[in-house]
Amino acid sequence: MKSAAALTALVALLPAFASAQSQVWGQCGGIGWSGATTCVSGSTCTKLNDYYSQCIPSSQAPTSQPPASTSVPSTPSSTSAPSTPSTTPAAGNPFTGFQVYLSPFYAAEIQSAAAAITDSTQKAKALSVAKVPTFTWFDTVSKVADLGTYLADAQSIQQSTGQKQIVQIVVYDLPDRDCAAKASNGEFSIANNGQANYFNYIDQLVAQIKKFPDVRVVAVIEPDSLANLVTNLNVQKCANAQQTYLACVNYALKQLSAVGVYSYMDAGHAGWLGWSANLSPAAQLFATVFKNAGSSPFIRGLATNVANYNALNAASPDPITQGNSNYDEMHYINAFQPMLKSQGFPAQFIVDQGRSGQQNLRSQWGDWCNIKNAGFGTRPTTNTGSSFIDSIVWVKPGGESDGTSNSSSPRFDSTCSLSDAAQPAPEAGTWFQSYFETLVSKANPPL
Ligand code: BGC
Repeated sequence: MKSAAALTALVALLPAFASAQSQVWGQCGGIGWSGATTCVSGSTCTKLNDYYSQCIPSSQAPTSQPPASTSVPSTPSSTSAPSTPSTTPAAGNPFTGFQVYLSPFYAAEIQSAAAAITDSTQKAKALSVAKVPTFTWFDTVSKVADLGTYLADAQSIQQSTGQKQIVQIVVYDLPDRDCAAKASNGEFSIANNGQANYFNYIDQLVAQIKKFPDVRVVAVIEPDSLANLVTNLNVQKCANAQQTYLACVNYALKQLSAVGVYSYMDAGHAGWLGWSANLSPAAQLFATVFKNAGSSPFIRGLATNVANYNALNAASPDPITQGNSNYDEMHYINAFQPMLKSQGFPAQFIVDQGRSGQQNLRSQWGDWCNIKNAGFGTRPTTNTGSSFIDSIVWVKPGGESDGTSNSSSPRFDSTCSLSDAAQPAPEAGTWFQSYFETLVSKANPPL
């Protein structure tokens, strides 16, 4: 969602995958694990929980497992082995043959938003948005219990209709989250037990998912995080977070793959990693992360344009794209996919078009906060026009703010008070009624 055009040297890529010993951050033990139980030199096999031991760089390995923070409920204990994925990974598109489950949380937001609209035509259009499948963001650990409710609901729809359901989630709770911006800073900090808290957050997601093995789950993994490691290591907070982000994403990918979740790592957008200087280091990083997480076929690929405003196929380049040949998501993906493939990651893509209905709105490509006059975009579909793209999706729930314009907030990011940002805007993730109404009236195709 965010953007940064500048390339910063990519440092300390992880060592390549080696099968005899587990690589740094790789799995080295746990119930059901049959792979290597020793770690490459410089790392130590460290038990994180009954299901997962990981090769932690020896300099960082704790002598004993850090206690979970008291503010975070511990994972329910279980004596059963982790459920094996309910399905053998489909060779193809995980969306094919599945109906996307509609988030009741977003539907409730839409219901109350529509109730505040007096014009009956606009109200009806607003209400129709509740029928468009949108991802549900798990941006705090306290929301994770809701996943069980949604999965149970999806399971009962599946049982009563015979129509298979796929539930779309965003995994979004890294410690020192949003390291190059402020608007979406999260609840965990690296300095205060953040990595252990994050592992616990993932364990709780997994515990819910394991209860419903016949419901398919697809996840976008940590918007902005790895893209920040490609271009923003000059930002102190990102440099400091680098190893923790890698360890946490590795843990998330492995644990989610083990319960059959299809993951797409967030890969910024055309105006971020799509610059020619950024593509190659980005491909190297994502391929390394993929291999270090075991090259599972459940790590299906990458998500682009999450919470951003780019077109999939722009009619003509927006002037802000300044000569970048990858001036829309299709060009970006067509340039990026072969590089990933040649690095050993046969990535497939999903592309957020939720707020991309109107184009040529921004003063600069890097602007990302509540862009004025944005409209809802192309509806989710697997008819994408590209063999590299599994589905057009709506990831950002349109109507939820990108960040506050209140300069006295601790999460105020000055991007949210630029002239192309709608104001006054509430805190990130909270409802922004006037913004939603504009998305409705500017929707393209119309609602
Ligand atoms: C916010 C999250 C929110 C998400 C979806 C992000 O910008 O930081 O809290 O869940 O957007 O609206």
